[in-house]
Amino acid sequence: TDQYCVIGNPIAHSKSPEIHPVFAAQTGQDIAYGRCLAPLDGFTETVRQLVAQGYRGANVTVPFKIEAVAVATRLTGRARAAGAVNTLSFEDGEIVGDNTDGPGLVADIVRNAGVALAGQRILLLGAGGAARGVMLPFIEQQPASILVANRTRATADSLVANFAGHGVPLAACGFDEIEGSFDIVVNATSSSLGGTMPPVPASAFAEGSLALDMMYGSAPSPFMDFARAQGAVTRDGLGMLVEQAAEAFMVWRGVRPDTSAVFKQLRT
Ligand code: ATR
Repeated sequence: TDQYCVIGNPIAHSKSPEIHPVFAAQTGQDIAYGRCLAPLDGFTETVRQLVAQGYRGANVTVPFKIEAVAVATRLTGRARAAGAVNTLSFEDGEIVGDNTDGPGLVADIVRNAGVALAGQRILLLGAGGAARGVMLPFIEQQPASILVANRTRATADSLVANFAGHGVPLAACGFDEIEGSFDIVVNATSSSLGGTMPPVPASAFAEGSLALDMMYGSAPSPFMDFARAQGAVTRDGLGMLVEQAAEAFMVWRGVRPDTSAVFKQLRT
């Protein structure tokens, strides 16, 4: 049995230990997957202990995704682009850092919501770690354009500058400068945690647009309620969560599980 876990602080709320065993049963993989609470000042030490205990890999969640970049001895291109690591593989003395959050969001939009990103006008709300992680995966889908809007305009400017030169038109603005309408609006701010939403104008949602909040909870977020009132189709972050887990499982085991059963199970 190969051992894996999710490392975070706090960790009790993590749904990953509910997801990976289902994937394992489905694909016939002999793995165990647990929770690992790391002290806030003890992430690196915790990873070293897991390696010494023969673990094969780990997921990384709040607040350690940035620190996990430094603990890795090798990074994948997508982890480097994201500036954060959510998946570690322990192999042949190496600690490989990867990031499946952005690919998970793209998979959820394309496969589960059935919305192609190619040729679409994307509005990305927020310019922190979550927004940064989806930039390259979005760009790879060849959308028509990406506008990054953030409360702090300067952070949006530097995020866009970081990803220029890939052939997709990018722009940055503050929330009060959002102009035009968009096919896909993604809320990558943490505002839903505080029960608020970014002040995005109603006109930003094109008829039949997709509005996705990266957060998930028992009830729709204020952003989702507002978007639905403008005629948008809404989605929360549960699909992204399940898809990033499936991508991590693929990285570790070389087989991509079917996510629909787990998604339904978590939703109920
Ligand atoms: P994460 O890893 O979740 O992205 P982060 O890197 O701290 O966390 O980024 C948080 C993002 O949410 C930022 O874009 C932040 O805007 P600022 O750059 O202006 O701080 C945004 N954010 C947080 N609270 C918000 C709120 N109440 N309204 C709008 N944006 C908010």
